[in-house]
Amino acid sequence: MTTDPARMHSVTGDTTELVDLVLDYSRRRILATDTPLDKPLPESELRRLAGRTVSENGMGAERALAVFEHVLAPACITTDHPRYLSFIPTAPTKAATAFDLVVSASAVYGGSWLEGSGAVYAENQVLAWLASEFGLPATAGGVFVQGGTLGNLSALVAARDHARSERGNPAGRWIIVCSAEAHSSVASAARVMDVDVVTVSPGESGVLSGDAVRPALAEHGGAVFAVVATAGSTNFGIVDDIASIAALKDEFDFWLHVDGAYGLAGMLSPLARPRFAGVERADSLIVDPHKWLFAPFDACALLYRDPEQGRRAHTQHAEYLDTLTEATEWSPSDYAAHLTRRARGLPFWFSLASHGAAAYRDAVTASLLLARRIADEIDRRDGFHLVRQPQLSVVVFEREGWTKEDYALWSARLLDEQRAFVTPSSHAGRTNTRFAILNPLTTFEDLVEILDSMED
Ligand SMILES: Cc1ncc(COP(=O)(O)O)c(C=O)c1O
Repeated sequence: MTTDPARMHSVTGDTTELVDLVLDYSRRRILATDTPLDKPLPESELRRLAGRTVSENGMGAERALAVFEHVLAPACITTDHPRYLSFIPTAPTKAATAFDLVVSASAVYGGSWLEGSGAVYAENQVLAWLASEFGLPATAGGVFVQGGTLGNLSALVAARDHARSERGNPAGRWIIVCSAEAHSSVASAARVMDVDVVTVSPGESGVLSGDAVRPALAEHGGAVFAVVATAGSTNFGIVDDIASIAALKDEFDFWLHVDGAYGLAGMLSPLARPRFAGVERADSLIVDPHKWLFAPFDACALLYRDPEQGRRAHTQHAEYLDTLTEATEWSPSDYAAHLTRRARGLPFWFSLASHGAAAYRDAVTASLLLARRIADEIDRRDGFHLVRQPQLSVVVFEREGWTKEDYALWSARLLDEQRAFVTPSSHAGRTNTRFAILNPLTTFEDLVEILDSMED
């Protein structure tokens, strides 16, 4: 027997109940101040607790939501928890998280002006604001893509396209030059593009300089289509000497891409702004709002100095798309390796429009100050030492005498006891650990307690 094919889409009493349930849950979760850290469960345990959730006739919204709330969500680490200090955390503002629901509810298509002009207008205002913060010309523009990996790839594809159109293919393979401490997504982009990466050692400080890059450009000449400068390395939050790398553009022909997925947000604070000198000469750059710009997953702002170069590299052509591609209006799909897109810049837009830029500057400044304060505390403590002085909000340190196993056991215990999520990392073959601080709710006392736990 078939059922009414429109029953999932019509508005009925059941639908109202379902929507209320989901909104109630969302309201509780967004406003909760005591969401635990939670932790992953083995698949066998999830199978035991949740069982088989997909069936021919469904389990009903109430049960499905209960499974999510009581089994699945607690098996996901709370990435916006103030003691989530691993990798690069996320810490969306309440406004941004709440508005994410609005974006879904509004069924906005963010790919073209024709379909989503209002959303595109708002996203472009945010992109223009970012461009002006970074010193790019008012003609700069781009698009919000899924994440930094896709942002770096899309920028580098545009860079190669530009080089190819200017100078044709090189005799050998195309080359990207970047720091040995650049993010793994640069190597990933190179694999996808089937080009080579030449890495340059940034030396002890971790700061790549123009002097270190010059020999690579001199050696590989016209094969180099892009140099990637990192504005806030993932492991250390170190900013390359972008100005001296950009100065090489006067001697060599290359596209300067700045990967600021995590760190470029630091430029909003007067405390860190001078570190980013030179970014205004970038041909393209990225910064991820889902990192230090307090937006929910997933959003990367990709900006081109000359957006036309992004458009030429990425516009998809097809008969059914002629209406869009022959139009003169701004269509975000044209600026990266994607077509259909969620208007993922809107949660950030709503929060920024609501609170204003000054609130963002204050929140970023707070992370910088807290990182400095805890770094000083680590410096003072016997048995601890900083691997490098922090430049932004990542603090990397060693507990003297600890082996890799000691860090692993300690980290697992912290999570098991629901005290913090702090994972081991390493540098130059030595294990260490790090605080990646960007949640304004993280306190100095939180961090001190974690240090104390290494002395238990
Ligand atoms: C400097 C840098 N670039 C790129 C990325 C990749 O970004 P995503 O994880 O959004 O793909 C990261 C992620 O941490 C990063 O720190």
